[in-house]
Amino acid sequence: MLNAKITGTGSYLPKKIVTNKDFEATLDTSDEWIYARTGIRKRHVIAEDESASSMAEIAANKAIQAAGINASDIDLIIVGTSSPDRVFPSTACLLQNKLGARGCASFDVQAACSGFIYALGIANQFIRAGGAKKALVIGTEANSRILDYSDRSTCVIFGDGAGAVVIEASEEPGILSTHMHSDGQYQDLLYINNPIKDQKQWGDEAYMTMHGNDVYKVAVKTLSRIVDETLEANNMAKSDVDWLIPHQANIRIIASVAKKLNMPMEKVVLTIENQGNTSAASVPLALDQAVRDGRIKKGDTVLMEAFGGGFVWGSALVKM
Ligand code: UT7
Repeated sequence: MLNAKITGTGSYLPKKIVTNKDFEATLDTSDEWIYARTGIRKRHVIAEDESASSMAEIAANKAIQAAGINASDIDLIIVGTSSPDRVFPSTACLLQNKLGARGCASFDVQAACSGFIYALGIANQFIRAGGAKKALVIGTEANSRILDYSDRSTCVIFGDGAGAVVIEASEEPGILSTHMHSDGQYQDLLYINNPIKDQKQWGDEAYMTMHGNDVYKVAVKTLSRIVDETLEANNMAKSDVDWLIPHQANIRIIASVAKKLNMPMEKVVLTIENQGNTSAASVPLALDQAVRDGRIKKGDTVLMEAFGGGFVWGSALVKM
C-alpha cells in the first residue's frame, strides 16, 4: 500500500497585529493576566477584504510551490475551518476556484480546533486507498469574525491565519498514523450557534462561547491519553519522537503534553506567544514555521495533536 507523505508546507498570517496591551483600552484585562494564563502576547487579525478562503489561497500557493507541483495536479482539497466564508459553497470549493484546480474533489471538515488533524487523517485514508494522489490539506480561520470583542474570556485568546500542506502518494514512509475522536456530551462548553436565522433551539447569537476552565481540564487529560494511543499504535517509545507540534491553545496545556512525552520545550514548536490560538490553523502554521526555519528536517518524526469544541480531538504521527 502507498503512503501519504507531506511534500510541501505553507502558511499565511494577516498583517494587522493586536497586542494584549491593545485590549487593556477596551476590556477589564491586562497583558500580565493574558500572558500568565495563556502564554499569548499578540495575535494577527484579518483585514476587511480578507477571509478564510483568501488566507487559505496564500498558504496553499506556498505549499504547492514548496512541493514543486502545479495547482492543476491536485486531485483533492480538504479544508478544516470553523469560520468559513459562507455556509456553502465550502471554503475548499472557493479555494479550488481561486487556485484553478479545476474539477478536483473539495470539501470542508468541521472539527473545530482539530479541523486540520481531521482533514489530514481523511486525506491520508484517501491516498492510501488510491482515491487521490496529490492532496491539499488546509487549516484556515477567520476567528475575529466569530468573536464577541466585549467577551474577555474568548476575544483575547484567538487569532486569524492559515496553514497548508501538500501530501502525495509515496513509496517512502510519511503519515504513520492518524487518530480521531469525539465526545458530544461536552457540546455546551465550547460552541458557536448557527448564524442561520430563527434557530429556536439554540438562539440567534453567533459568537464563540467558551467555558475555558472546564475545557482546560478535559483537554489536559485527553491529550495525555492520545499521546499514549499514538505511540502504542506505532510501537514507538517517547524518545522516538523528534518534535511535538501541539494545537496552540494554552502554553500550560502544551507544557503538560510535553512533560508526558518527556520532551524538553526546545523540541516543542511554539507559536502561541505571537499568534494566539488560531483554531484549525494552529498546527499547520507551526509546522510550516519549523520546516522553513530548518528545525524540522527530512526524516524527523513529528507528533501533532489538537483538541477543540465538541469535544473533538486527534493526533497524527508523521515521518517528514
Ligand atoms: O482551542 C480549543 C480548546 N481550548 C482550550 O483548550 C482552552 C482551555 N482553557 C484555557 O486555556 C484557560 O481556561 C483560559 C486561558 C481560557 C482561562 O484561564 P483560567 O486560568 O482557566 O481562568 P478562569 O476561566 O478560571 O478565570 C479565572 C478568572 C475569572 O475571574 P473570577 O471569577 O476568578 O473573579 C475570570 O472572570 O479570570 C477572569 N478572566 C479574566 N481576567 C482578566 C477571564 N478572562 C480574563 C481576561 N482578563 N481576559
